[in-house]
Amino acid sequence: EIKGILFDLDGVITDTAEYHYEAWKKLAEDIGISFDRDFNEKLKGVGRMESLDLILEHGGKELSGADKEYYASKKNDHYRTMISNITPNDLLPGILKFMEEIKLAGIKTALASSSKNAQPVIERLEITHLLDEVVDATKVERGKPDPEIFLKAAEQLNVSAAGCVGIEDAQAGVEAIKSADMFAVGVGQSLKKADWIVQDTTELNLKDLRERF
Ligand code: BG6
Ligand code: MG
Repeated sequence: EIKGILFDLDGVITDTAEYHYEAWKKLAEDIGISFDRDFNEKLKGVGRMESLDLILEHGGKELSGADKEYYASKKNDHYRTMISNITPNDLLPGILKFMEEIKLAGIKTALASSSKNAQPVIERLEITHLLDEVVDATKVERGKPDPEIFLKAAEQLNVSAAGCVGIEDAQAGVEAIKSADMFAVGVGQSLKKADWIVQDTTELNLKDLRERF
């Protein structure tokens, strides 16, 4: 029986994955590193500094700690500008209906996001009341694919991992869910190891999920 549903934020609830992509692409090109969507897949679900490290490695560049801080905060400034205009209209199609359906069914919900900007994003989307717990990058030590964030969300909801479903658009996220021994829903593309893959968020509904769980 499903007791808890744990949502990734960027790319699952709203399309901020696209903003992260644009912000990283601009930064990478400013420092002379080529950047495309294929490489971007490796950054999805990965924390800010870890993402910068992957970009530098990809471009064969090394920077001092101070320079890395500078570039990471520059990327974040650009990202913050992009998210400042988010409204409830930016919820991905079907997400609000799905979250309301979950609430009505008495299933608990939590956010499990690698972003330090999760709080302002969910406030602007006006979905704070639909989440029982919020676990973001400020509350965990290890980033996805480590299972810590999903395990912590389950613990805060007071449900066992076996009763949890995690929903992700990133390969690192699906791996984190599977390492936590939970049922993984993958949104979009070819996510390896996902237990159920949906093409987009309009396919998410409790009936289909329960049949597969
Ligand atoms: C994840 C995104 O949710 O958060 C990543 O998928 C992003 O693309 C990471 O790098 C960290 O976000 P932030 O907002 O803390 O820089
Ligand atoms: Mg994501």
